Amino acid sequence: MKKAMKIGIIGSGRIGGHLAAEWAKAGYEVMISSRHPNQLKGLAKKIGPKVKVGTPEEAAKFGEIILLSIPFGEIPNLGREILNALKGKIVMDTCNPYIERDKEIGVEALNSPSGSGVWTAKHLPGAKVVKAFNTIYAEELESEAHREGDPIGVPLASDHKDALETVSILVIDAGCGPYIVGELHRAKEFDNGTEAYGSGASTNELKKIFGPKRKAA
Ligand SMILES: NC(=O)c1ccc[n+]([C@@H]2O[C@H](COP(=O)([O-])OP(=O)(O)OC[C@H]3O[C@@H](n4cnc5c(N)ncnc54)[C@H](OP(=O)(O)O)[C@@H]3O)[C@@H](O)[C@H]2O)c1
Repeated sequence: MKKAMKIGIIGSGRIGGHLAAEWAKAGYEVMISSRHPNQLKGLAKKIGPKVKVGTPEEAAKFGEIILLSIPFGEIPNLGREILNALKGKIVMDTCNPYIERDKEIGVEALNSPSGSGVWTAKHLPGAKVVKAFNTIYAEELESEAHREGDPIGVPLASDHKDALETVSILVIDAGCGPYIVGELHRAKEFDNGTEAYGSGASTNELKKIFGPKRKAA
């Protein structure tokens, strides 16, 4: 764990709510957020007395590192003040473009040759985007965290080495295993629809998916 790091959660739903609880349990200072913060009372009670509750803007300002876990199509709607607050910060992007839900934005991001991570980074100028936690379904994230042996694997991609190091620690503290795939454009290799996505692959299995491919005999 990195000492006394503050984490702001933007999108405290199934993924964000779970990870907020994990990181609070691990000793981080966490602020969960909603556009309707009153609706987070139940989650805050479940996480414990130390968790803070705020608006997305307050979470963006509070966090030294941010978890962005909202519907993909909402990313451009994040207010200008939030974008300013994110400048220079690490933003873990769990968001997946789904055409049924995210319409034109989903089509654009999925068809983008550089993938959804680069798409997010273009909409969050100045933030250090790390694609993370997008491949594991919420139920599996909850049931498999902290299991014995080879941990459930979280592929990571970013253009920022320091951010990858920090997020790797957060992945471990959430009871999973980090696997650094490479620069942010390589997140395309684990966008929805790829082999890694929704596979439930462990960290060792991710090595096989992303490592050098054997030539057929
Ligand atoms: N569920 C999964 O199995 C899974 C797995 C991996 C990745 N993902 C991806 O991770 C993201 C979150 O998934 P989820 O299942 O956790 O979603 P969810 O349970 O629906 O939660 C999403 C949260 O986003 C917030 N939100 C929506 N629009 C917003 C906006 N414009 N500004 C700020 N906050 C906004 C909502 O909070 P308020 O309405 O209270 O503001 C809501 O609590 C999605 O992109 C999803 O594709 C999901």
